[in-house]
Amino acid sequence: MDVLTKFVIDYLNTSAVADAIDLKTEDYDQDFFGVPGYCRKVQYRRPPFQVEILRPTPNMIIPEHTHPNIDSFEVHLAGDTEFSHHGVWVSRDFDHNAIQDKTYFKRVDECFYINGLLAIEVKHSDIHGGCFGKRGGLFMSIQHWLNDVEPTCVGLDYEGYNIDEVDGQHPDAKEKLDWKCAASKEDIPPQFKKVPPPIDLDLFRTLPSPEQYFTW
Ligand SMILES: [Fe+2]
Repeated sequence: MDVLTKFVIDYLNTSAVADAIDLKTEDYDQDFFGVPGYCRKVQYRRPPFQVEILRPTPNMIIPEHTHPNIDSFEVHLAGDTEFSHHGVWVSRDFDHNAIQDKTYFKRVDECFYINGLLAIEVKHSDIHGGCFGKRGGLFMSIQHWLNDVEPTCVGLDYEGYNIDEVDGQHPDAKEKLDWKCAASKEDIPPQFKKVPPPIDLDLFRTLPSPEQYFTW
């Protein structure tokens, strides 16, 4: 198992999941990247690892891109989320029933179910993006920064259209983008249907905090 996968499994065995869901708007960096309402918080940073909590606005689009110096796992926490990976919706890959079988750690293609959470492995060269529905989104980005690059923000180690270029998300946007920009090989719009069942937040609240857990 590689170091990031091990870190992700350990991180999702802390209170961090409940802590993220319990965040209030004022706890975040707000209007992130110039997008009104887009919220972001660095929850954990210990190079080469970093965890960001990202809360996209309703109907927001994240166009396809790569992060040249980051391997990551994107963990769905709440909201209407349709991630894309390699140009197609990730929801095509995962078996919704698999999450019911209580398996602690299960891999279906590049999707993992870890402690009841859906996590998508995104390598540094993998094209990915996302669309968010009426309820907006909430996800945790667990990152391993590569090549001795100091962890800052996923949006700064980024190749592709950036979120602030999407018309309607930023007042100065030049390009009119739609869901196709988030999943260029797809032939259906985002469905926002296949989401994991609600997790047991009280279970996560009983777990140690990341700072308590990671004593290394
Ligand atoms: Fe990304």
